[in-house]
Amino acid sequence: MSGVFRVGGDEYDAFMGRYSKVLAPLFADFAGVEAQSRALDVGAVTGALTAELLARGASVAAADTSPEFVAVLSERFPDVDVREAPAESLPFESGDFDIALAQLVVAFMSDAPAAVAEMARVARRVAVCMWGVAEVEMFRAIDATAEAIGVTRGGEPRRYRTSQEVNDLLAPHGEVESAELDVTAAYRDFDEFWEALDHVVGPAGQWLASLDAGQREQAHEELFRQFGSPQGPFELKARAFAAAVTPA
Ligand SMILES: C[S@@+](CC[C@H](N)C(=O)[O-])C[C@H]1O[C@@H](n2cnc3c(N)ncnc32)[C@H](O)[C@@H]1O
Repeated sequence: MSGVFRVGGDEYDAFMGRYSKVLAPLFADFAGVEAQSRALDVGAVTGALTAELLARGASVAAADTSPEFVAVLSERFPDVDVREAPAESLPFESGDFDIALAQLVVAFMSDAPAAVAEMARVARRVAVCMWGVAEVEMFRAIDATAEAIGVTRGGEPRRYRTSQEVNDLLAPHGEVESAELDVTAAYRDFDEFWEALDHVVGPAGQWLASLDAGQREQAHEELFRQFGSPQGPFELKARAFAAAVTPA
């Protein structure tokens, strides 16, 4: 685990949670989560998906590698069985769950194929999803900005960011069902976007934190331009690639 998301729950929610909250119902629909489903949320972080699963009447357990997020989850969802554990080695018995879901996690795992095999051990069905790169307006604008100011982003995981890669990850376990999940995130204004990016959440936030004062100013100007110089509220679109499998 790269540790790139080791920030507070509120900071995560401001930057990425606003997207994962609206993604969660689409992902749960695609995965086929129903009332009474026994569901495991892998890489749950602040619980955007956990909340959706509970709202559907599923019985939910959650796992994450980050002690900080495990603490946030336990506080937010006192009735959920929250474990500090890697997906590659889940502390559950075989067949404990109807479904194991990993929303926006596989790219950050140290061994995603092993994690998927482990999810398939503990659950009857496995579903994963990851953002695209060019298909996410926020990431596309940050990449274009990095290029424009000559400080490119490096070293971040960009695995499992296409439909093909996500499907291939699940293919060893059976016939893969796939979908594209489109969401929109709303911002009050550009300042709200900038503040969320400035919380140093994930690879994009780390990139901003690596800039010197002059580069920061250039990045601010260029990003504002990339979004069409919004004077008030604006929205950004994002697409996730989802795949699910029910091993025989
Ligand atoms: C982008 S967040 C996903 C958050 C959440 N599922 C959501 O939709 O908002 C990725 C998180 O997955 C967790 N993670 C990374 N590797 C993991 C692994 N091998 N097993 C379980 N969780 C992992 C980390 O806490 C990391 O911050």
